[in-house]
Amino acid sequence: MKEFGPFSFTHPIALGVATAPTQIEGFPTENSWYDWASIPGKIVDGSSPLRANEHWTRYKEDIDLMASLHIRHYRLGLEWSRIEPQEGRFDEVAVAHYREELSYLLEKGIRPLVTLHHFSNPSWFERRGGFLSKDSIDIFLRYVRYAVAKISDLCSEFITVNEPNVYAVNGYLYGIWPPGRKKISQTLSVMKRLAVCHLRACQAVREIYGDKPVRVGYANHFRIFRSPSEKVPARIQTRLIEYLFQDGITRLMTTGRGSFPFGLFSGVKKGLYCDFIGINYYTRCTMKGFNELPVPASSPRNDLGWELYPGGIRLLAKKYYERFGLPVWITENGTADAADGFRSLYLFEHLQELALNGSFVERYYHWTFIDNFEWAEGETARFGLVGNDFERQKRTVRRSGHFYADIISNRGVTPAMIDQYLSPDSD
Ligand code: BGC
Repeated sequence: MKEFGPFSFTHPIALGVATAPTQIEGFPTENSWYDWASIPGKIVDGSSPLRANEHWTRYKEDIDLMASLHIRHYRLGLEWSRIEPQEGRFDEVAVAHYREELSYLLEKGIRPLVTLHHFSNPSWFERRGGFLSKDSIDIFLRYVRYAVAKISDLCSEFITVNEPNVYAVNGYLYGIWPPGRKKISQTLSVMKRLAVCHLRACQAVREIYGDKPVRVGYANHFRIFRSPSEKVPARIQTRLIEYLFQDGITRLMTTGRGSFPFGLFSGVKKGLYCDFIGINYYTRCTMKGFNELPVPASSPRNDLGWELYPGGIRLLAKKYYERFGLPVWITENGTADAADGFRSLYLFEHLQELALNGSFVERYYHWTFIDNFEWAEGETARFGLVGNDFERQKRTVRRSGHFYADIISNRGVTPAMIDQYLSPDSD
């Protein structure tokens, strides 16, 4: 049986939650994911982001719930397709809606961190080639400048682009996300172009804010890559995949300097293009070429079969902190656990790693606040601290949600919380 000890955060880490607009808002908008979900067979349960959590109309209810759980930091996103529904035509009504939502967050004492691109594109942008097309960077920048200027009095923290590596790999290598391609050359082009979108968006945000304080960065997806064997060729292959998936692009997005195969020149001056390193961390994996091998039978895993490996959060945070000398923000970390059978343990183990060894970690955003539309998994994968009955749109705080609220209030885990949430007879 596992033994647990209490811990507390001795450094000023802020604990929050994260969501993405396409995954929670619901209600029609013409974007790549609404289009993709309308093709039979693309979403495992046939669900669509059209429904999701109806957060677009229920945002006050959701924010009230957040506040009741002592959450004071919230990563949310803007849906580009609502703000620019047709090329070059911006929608003031959508902007007014986001302004209301941000104002409501501030009224409740919750600090917003705003993501500008989280996997979904307006349909018109996707039709004209998405991020494969050369002028996509300028087009994205036009939206960024417009949107950021409209909310600059309500928010001073931004994530430009979420997980360019996952976006490119799932959409252009494995073909399981829009636009459903399977070409390595396109995968690399899209990754590089999104990295440059980040660099240019970072410059644009800084220009808009001028002397006013602002913090801007990216959120990239990072994994621990385990070699399938100790043999030298296997270890070299693992490092190569790690480089292609996360290290090469992270260097480019952080410093503006690329290396093969992302191109040496990014079109921006060498510099520091983020105020924090944004790490989304979920799992450890073993690769053979571009294929993921099964998780070893002895390893714990979540509902989607992803290995649970808490030590990875500290290893990655330390590695990138030491590499770039910037504070780390864990911009996503969480797990699919419909029965809520191990999420509390997951929280305990990951946060303990940061409490004991992560003085350079300034923020932690749990993925996710509420069960949502989980991309190709639709409504089947339950990552929420709060459960959602999608039919009735009824929210229920899970036991792990109460645990997280207590961790926030106590700045750690007390012996009484261990008894309440983690002992085998605590049900
Ligand atoms: C994405 C989220 C997603 C989560 C869980 C991350 O890669 O940014 O949108 O829901 O993983 O799969």
